[in-house]
Amino acid sequence: MSGALNFLLALHFLLTFFHCSSLAAMAKYNVQNFGAKPNGKTDSTKSFLSAWASACASAQPATIYVPPGRYLLGAATFAGQSCKNPAITIRIDGTLVAPSNYNVIGNSGNWIKFERVTGVSVIGGTLDGQGAKLWACKNSSKNCPKGAKTLSFYNSNNIIINGLSSINSQKFHILVYGCQNAKLVGIKVSAPGNSPNTDGLHVQKSTRVTIMNSKFGTGDDCVSIGPGTSNLWIENVACGPGHGISIGSLAWELQEPGVQNVTVKSATFTGTQNGVRVKTWARPSNGFVKYILFQHLVMVNVKNPIIIDQNYCPHHKNCPDQVSGVKISDITYQDIHGSSATKIAMKFDCSKKYPCNGITLKDVNLIYKNEPAQSSCINAYGKSSSLVRPNSCLYN
Ligand SMILES: *[C@@H]1O[C@H](CO)[C@@H](O)[C@H](O)[C@H]1NC(C)=O
Ligand SMILES: *[C@@H]1O[C@H](CO)[C@@H](O)[C@H](O)[C@H]1NC(C)=O
Repeated sequence: MSGALNFLLALHFLLTFFHCSSLAAMAKYNVQNFGAKPNGKTDSTKSFLSAWASACASAQPATIYVPPGRYLLGAATFAGQSCKNPAITIRIDGTLVAPSNYNVIGNSGNWIKFERVTGVSVIGGTLDGQGAKLWACKNSSKNCPKGAKTLSFYNSNNIIINGLSSINSQKFHILVYGCQNAKLVGIKVSAPGNSPNTDGLHVQKSTRVTIMNSKFGTGDDCVSIGPGTSNLWIENVACGPGHGISIGSLAWELQEPGVQNVTVKSATFTGTQNGVRVKTWARPSNGFVKYILFQHLVMVNVKNPIIIDQNYCPHHKNCPDQVSGVKISDITYQDIHGSSATKIAMKFDCSKKYPCNGITLKDVNLIYKNEPAQSSCINAYGKSSSLVRPNSCLYN
């Protein structure tokens, strides 16, 4: 009897051992074996795409490995439609560099693009978009390409981006669009404060996206949150320079999915144009914003620490009636303090057709040059409790 038991135990041990060792021998695809050159000069786009194709062709979990060095990459789409592999990790120990001539990728919309992938993790690495010449071109009002977003995920599920740095993107640094379950941890985005349109991260039409322990310095929004975003969690993030964390712009379209259940927690804003902002065009729309929590935020010399702006309409063009159709409700601001760089530290400029409802202020303390700051309310309803400075101007 015990002999049979021992045999079974031994068998179990052997099976477990082989199972584990087959996992340990996870297939590894080194881009250099596909011809990629770490010299920053040889176009390695095809090598990266070949490594991806090989990893995709296998159903076994795979790692695509990018050793140290600089790899020149043109516009590349990593498509998942015919990918058999449910778990591909791209481990980057090097830097991927965009072509120095911005025209090469400037009209393609995206530089590194993932489309319809599932279970992809990008670990480590630096992405250098080399955007400076394009920004200068845009500034000189010459005829310039729009620019490419550095890293985009479209219509993808179960994504992890961990420990990635993105610098000097031509346009947005990271885009998450039409995705479910994305976890971004330890992200570092940096571009100068005067670089146009270089948003750190834009999330749109996506659900269950988490961003933690990350740092954004840009010339536009640190994080921007577009229509159709729900269950978004942002925690322990530093923003600056930049335009803050923004929900919007919304209401560009007449038919537009809403934004709901967004948490921004434990964030610091340093020298930014805004802290937490909700921004909608003064245009008709069926969109909405609800169930938003802004909590434990520190503002350091921020121009508009707390702002809802439903009158967005640059140059007063394309805004018939100048009224926003977006319905804003249930927004809580809790434990927010620090300094405002302008006298109005708290501004709620809501739609006259659909006033903001259910705004809650709790424990807010914002000062301006060691004097009391001010608040401003238009069509904004809600309540305040604990200390709120400047005093709340919300209608009850
Ligand atoms: C663009 O022009 C503005 C205004 O002249 C200037 O302040 C800014 O620094 C310029 N940005 C870049 C990237 O050159
Ligand atoms: C709100 O989103 C968080 C994730 O950010 C999720 O854990 C929570 O269940 C969501 N709440 C509702 C009511 O959907």
